[in-house]
Amino acid sequence: MDTDPDRRAPDPNDPDLRPEAPPEAEAVRGVLRGVIDPELHASIVDLGMVDDVAIDPGGGVTVQIALTTLGCPLRGQIKKDVESKVRGLPGVTAVSVKYAEMTPEQKTAAMQRARWNAREHAPETEIPSTTRVLAIASGKGGVGKSSVTVNLAAALGSRGFTVGVLDADIWGFSVPRMLGITERLSGADGKIHPNVLSVASHLDKNGKQGSLKVVSMGFLVDGESTALMWRGLILTRALEQFLTDVRWGDMDYLLVDMPPGTGDIQMALARLLPQAEMLVVTTPARNAQKVASRVADMARRSYMKVAGVIENMSAFVAPDGTSYALFGTGGGAALAREIGAPLLATFPIEPAVAEGGDSGHPVVLAAPDSPTGVAFHALAALVVDEILPPIEMGGCTARILDIATANLAQLDAEAGS
Ligand SMILES: Nc1ncnc2c1ncn2[C@@H]1O[C@H](COP(=O)(O)OP(=O)(O)OP(=O)(O)O)[C@@H](O)[C@H]1O
Ligand SMILES: [Mg+2]
Repeated sequence: MDTDPDRRAPDPNDPDLRPEAPPEAEAVRGVLRGVIDPELHASIVDLGMVDDVAIDPGGGVTVQIALTTLGCPLRGQIKKDVESKVRGLPGVTAVSVKYAEMTPEQKTAAMQRARWNAREHAPETEIPSTTRVLAIASGKGGVGKSSVTVNLAAALGSRGFTVGVLDADIWGFSVPRMLGITERLSGADGKIHPNVLSVASHLDKNGKQGSLKVVSMGFLVDGESTALMWRGLILTRALEQFLTDVRWGDMDYLLVDMPPGTGDIQMALARLLPQAEMLVVTTPARNAQKVASRVADMARRSYMKVAGVIENMSAFVAPDGTSYALFGTGGGAALAREIGAPLLATFPIEPAVAEGGDSGHPVVLAAPDSPTGVAFHALAALVVDEILPPIEMGGCTARILDIATANLAQLDAEAGS
């Protein structure tokens, strides 16, 4: 009997093959919390910009957005983000975005909310609202999250981007070693400053010098054994501090290397950075896929979009060209199918990846033409071009919030006099 699930005839009762039911409006609003108005620095839901969410039985979702001004150059950006977030929900077949212009009353209310948010709301992080955030997660340990994080960060850096790397694996940190950084973090004006690493340009696409801004518990404690003592105690608090007490400055991307498994850190990240999306790393083994799907499920429950799946440690190709599937095959594709997210990359087992991790020279920079080097550059290109394009603020000159704040201050002053 053929037991390979990929080769059996499709079972019409298989829940994986039945079309997903359309999502609830609450779930749509949940993911829309992750769409940040880059000018007002707050979620479009919190700003009262989501006028209406309509869902038809076939899974078509229509979202009506009220904009401060219809001519806002960020309109296209917000539309793309709304489409991307809603499309990531299971059961969604099409997304359409409609616009309305805010009434003067709505505008005032939105500005007041933005001001209130900036003052009182849940811990204000130091992560700019124009920074794209990707959390690299997996169900199991040792599948290559940290390797993916540092290599993807370096690949993005080599395209001229400024990339934050937050090692959220508080007690099992490995980012310092993998990037070859030993310096302690320095502080000034009550804030911690990240370690900065310049990245040589690989493509010289835009002539910009890329850099990595790196923060890890490894820069604060003496050794991995000291970090172990902190286990549990400060876990979520440490993540919060890394986001609120570090002077990150401008960043195009922030990559967060998650600790293995599901749990508190993931929930905390979803709360603190609702714009974060997740890349799930799995090996080709079927049991890894099962555990990884739990992580994706958890992400969905905290309304974090799963941007895609990465299969790491795929077949090892020997110098004579023979391929050895040491950890099986198909886990990445199966996981992608199961959770309805795209399979973005497949990285073979390649000793250069481990060597790069041990020596502090990521393979993507040390051997950009190796199979994994090429694959990491391709993943970076996919992220930039399709998955999570950087936010361009260049065309947006109107500082709406500043103008509104000045107007409101004037009104306050007039009311007081
Ligand atoms: N594609 C690959 N080819 C060869 N070795 C790899 C590959 N990916 C990762 N490794 C090696 O496997 C080990 C585990 O990888 P890594 O530390 O990135 O995993 P992780 O998921 O972050 O682990 P942890 O859960 O412990 O944080 C490392 O020694 C790394 O160098
Ligand atoms: Mg790790």
